[in-house]
Amino acid sequence: ELDAANLMKQAVGKAAADRVKSNTIVGLGTGSTTAYALEFIGDRLKKGELENVVGIPTSFQAEVLARKYGIPLTTLDVVDRIDIAIDGADEVDPQKNLIKGGGAAHTREKIVDALAETFLVVVDSGKLVDKLGSTFLLPVEVIPMALTPVMRALAKLGGKPELRMGIKKAGPIVTDQGNLVIDVKFDAIADPAELEKTINNLPGVLENGLFVGVADVILVGEIIDGQPTVR
Ligand code: A5P
Repeated sequence: ELDAANLMKQAVGKAAADRVKSNTIVGLGTGSTTAYALEFIGDRLKKGELENVVGIPTSFQAEVLARKYGIPLTTLDVVDRIDIAIDGADEVDPQKNLIKGGGAAHTREKIVDALAETFLVVVDSGKLVDKLGSTFLLPVEVIPMALTPVMRALAKLGGKPELRMGIKKAGPIVTDQGNLVIDVKFDAIADPAELEKTINNLPGVLENGLFVGVADVILVGEIIDGQPTVR
């Protein structure tokens, strides 16, 4: 039995998988919503409804799930384009700007999602906000030796930085690239485009979770009259 949040994620994941066409290269995002999309893409491949779909994973998690669901994988060294990327988000504003990185995968996600001809975002309605930063902390991936100076610089920018710690691990979480993640509380972010650039300019920062002007289509799952619905 799925709870309401998972019913929304499942509905939106299916809607995204239905938009994938044969003979395409697909960016495979990270997180629990995208996981449903990967499952449904795998189903369509098995049924023969889809053919010749190759995935580019945005994380170790996406890679593992793609194998589980039978989606063949490739790398950016081999292909010259990504037709569509499907990925979740932690916050979405009315201009389709995003905060991502709740799964610490935003660096590879930004590379893949930004290259895609169409970047399709899959979220449940709980992710929609008026201003980015209002509910979610902004993730910043940092090279370990630069942790302290970057924390100081983020505080100077008006944020409250915190090193992300593991849940079933003693010590900090480590990204797929072997780096650390700082989560920064900014409250409402006035100028996401400016902040994205300013943070990425700090020496030692690899990438932050602001995705400005990258998303093309936002699919939103919600429950209407008790039924999971996608708009
Ligand atoms: C991973 O780093 C994130 O950008 C995810 O895409 C984001 O956290 C969405 O995950 P859920 O679909 O699990 O909410």
